[in-house]
Amino acid sequence: MAAEGEKMTGGRFVGSRDPVMELLNASITYDQRLSEVDIQGSIAYAKALEKTGILPKPELEKILGGLEKISEEWSKGVFVVTPTDEDIHTANERRLKELIGDIAGKLHTGRSRNDQVVTDLKMFMRNSISVISSHLQQLIKTLVERAATEIEIILPGYTHLQRAQPIRWSQFLLSHAVALTRDSERLIEMKRRMNVLPLGSGALAGHPLEIDREFLRSELDFASISLNSMDAVSERDFVVEFLSVATLMMIHLSKMAEDLIIYSTSEFGFITLSDTYCTGSSLMPQKKNPDSLELIRSKAGRVFGRLSALLMVLKGLPSTYNKDLQEDKEAVFDVVDTLNAVLQVATGVISTLQINKENMERALSPDILASDLAMYLVHKGVMISLGQQTRKLETHTLHVSQVEELLPGGLDSNLQMPFRQAHIASGKAVQLAESKGTTINNLSVDDLKSISPLFGSDVSQIFNVHNSVEQYVAMGGTAKSSVSAQIEQLRELMKKHREQM
Ligand code: ARG
Repeated sequence: MAAEGEKMTGGRFVGSRDPVMELLNASITYDQRLSEVDIQGSIAYAKALEKTGILPKPELEKILGGLEKISEEWSKGVFVVTPTDEDIHTANERRLKELIGDIAGKLHTGRSRNDQVVTDLKMFMRNSISVISSHLQQLIKTLVERAATEIEIILPGYTHLQRAQPIRWSQFLLSHAVALTRDSERLIEMKRRMNVLPLGSGALAGHPLEIDREFLRSELDFASISLNSMDAVSERDFVVEFLSVATLMMIHLSKMAEDLIIYSTSEFGFITLSDTYCTGSSLMPQKKNPDSLELIRSKAGRVFGRLSALLMVLKGLPSTYNKDLQEDKEAVFDVVDTLNAVLQVATGVISTLQINKENMERALSPDILASDLAMYLVHKGVMISLGQQTRKLETHTLHVSQVEELLPGGLDSNLQMPFRQAHIASGKAVQLAESKGTTINNLSVDDLKSISPLFGSDVSQIFNVHNSVEQYVAMGGTAKSSVSAQIEQLRELMKKHREQM
């Protein structure tokens, strides 16, 4: 229990506080993570006070010496927190007084814990975001480089978790990398937006001495100075933004984790996770569980919980500082720690997993080429009408791209097959194969001709997954040229992000 007068909040109080209230009120157990930035802020603030004339040079020297000593104590782990220390700000000031005497009391002139805490938190977050960003970039790089190495691997792509169309394994890896680049960009943007100095706003009304806020800004490496003191001490937009960016990032990671969990089941067997990232069962000796990925998936819920909790705290608060705002820090610390761990584990999982090419190939059942069969009919219709209308019946010497050049008036639509109709025809082929107990690639040309006369013997080229993926040459597609272009662009983008962070 704090003795009267020992409290930094001064002489206004009589008697002692309820010990449970003391516990509820104190943030020192967690906000000591701000110790270093709190001291940096105080060093800059002391120098700024000296410039106002209120702090003579010798006193400034004493204060700076004391602050350095406290910083050393924190870094060596020997700083002793006492029961009267409510938070990191009061703890550091109490210690300063022990070390240099009453001059310590001058340090807080014109400053409030309200502008102090938000400055500290911003400085802490700037550092943390840089670390998170480098872990994120490492993960993206791992995905991109793996995509470059394994570009020849083809597996089924899924929609509704049903086999849909063949894709390159790299296309899958890059789909996750691309989503993460947006998170990387959001981190860069939010870090830039939050880099506004609140210090010098006082409790709410501003600073009573003509403190040089430009000097504080440059000492503490902020990009600009807050415009309004009341806004500066109360806004936690930057925390909400960080937690939102983190939530979205976690949702992306959760999606990737879920895909990989499915691919690692014996039912799929597309990948095998390294033992380093799995655990066993205490009962079933055969089990190898993808705990790393499950934890990534679950942490998405945890991080979103932090965001929604803070939004609930902020909702309904009146202007300026209210003690409710103390809730922001545990959310930030928890999310910083979670992201750092999750990103490193995700990188480890991706770089060590093994792909099982044969299982991927086996899953490439002919039915996933049904949309290619429909496209064959569309293409065939175009070629036939092109041949007839130009009287160049050797259509194999023509290409669809020549339509414009050879037939400025366009194709005769009566000769072509619209995609909707082709879709139906291909569906009929699937059904016919099913009724014959076979697969579409094993239907005879006559079987197919009974569905549409456009089918010819060249239809066999459709039943080849390599040909299939190679049609997707348009930007963003799964053809090799397009995947390679994605890899190049991602490498460039990540270089830019590294420079911007
Ligand atoms: N520990 C407090 C927090 O985390 C510091 C600010 C306290 N300000 C106040 N007026 N009580 O928000």
